[in-house]
Amino acid sequence: MADLNELSEKLNAIKAEIKGELDRLENSKSVFEYKKAVFDSKTGKVGSLMREMGKIPNEMKAEYGKRVNEIKTWAQGLFDEMDERFKKEEMRIRYESEKLDVTMPPVRSRQGYLHPNTLVKNQIVDIFGSMGFEIFEGTEIETDYYNFTALNTPDDHPARDMQDTFYLSDKFLLRTQTSAGQIHVMEEKKPPIKIISPGKVFRSDDDATHSPMFSQMEGLVVDKGITLCDLKGMLDVFVQKIFGEDTRTRLRPSYFPFTEPSVEVDVSCFQCHGKGCKLCKGTGWIEVLGAGVVNRKVLEGCGIDSDVYSGFAFGIGIERIAMLKYGINNIKLLFESDLRVLDQIRE
Ligand code: PHE
Repeated sequence: MADLNELSEKLNAIKAEIKGELDRLENSKSVFEYKKAVFDSKTGKVGSLMREMGKIPNEMKAEYGKRVNEIKTWAQGLFDEMDERFKKEEMRIRYESEKLDVTMPPVRSRQGYLHPNTLVKNQIVDIFGSMGFEIFEGTEIETDYYNFTALNTPDDHPARDMQDTFYLSDKFLLRTQTSAGQIHVMEEKKPPIKIISPGKVFRSDDDATHSPMFSQMEGLVVDKGITLCDLKGMLDVFVQKIFGEDTRTRLRPSYFPFTEPSVEVDVSCFQCHGKGCKLCKGTGWIEVLGAGVVNRKVLEGCGIDSDVYSGFAFGIGIERIAMLKYGINNIKLLFESDLRVLDQIRE
């Protein structure tokens, strides 16, 4: 460096170059990066000036150092000021974007609801639970013995044709009725017995009101002195809780091999209250379940003395109750999980 004029020129050129670059900087990050480059002790326009001290004649060193410090302070001040300005603006933008309007309506999250089959099942469990019934859960795969033979339906019995059965082998099948559970309970437990047993059952049957898989709720009471009247009294309470206070029951003679006598239970139409409508097909009555007094043969087969004990049993079709209660005309709608249907059913 020959003289101070030359030094001044050089520093002025550096200043001019830095000033010229400033327009290019558009945020605090680019200020930071440019500053880092300018102050780099090896390659930076300002940062490397001190390295040249060695080449400066001794008498100029003091002045050189002073001027280099000046330009450093100048550049530092310039960058600080820009940094502050950008940061302020950046903060403003960030606050703006994070602003929360507490008066906005909330984003609704869709909530799940219980399926109508589950609703009905839970209601039935609650009703019988409050009457002191215990729950027995059977298995979906059963033996021919529990599903038929022990229920007084031996191999050649015509009643086997009432239920088209899915056989898995000679011995095993998919249970066609939760009644199979009656036998397990009576084998395991001595009277008094008071159970309900919900579960899936399977039959080769398929139309608007029948599905190859559906759900039943079995009921079984065995004790001393149980009669058909007890069954009727208990069913009256049940239907009033499910369909409404003024619902009445009517028993019609029927046939099941494992009950004697057997009945088909109708309820007074809860839609027209007996006047006759589409739901009850003009009769004022709707069939809801099968029931009866437990056949002595079945009790004896399970080692229960039928001279001392008697009982009643009933089987409720859960989908059938759900269809009646919620006005569903095709059982398939209960298995298709179509939200347009399910969304209409809430309890
Ligand atoms: N298991 C019979 C059916 O599925 C219903 C029933 C149960 C009838 C208990 C009488 C007693 O059709």
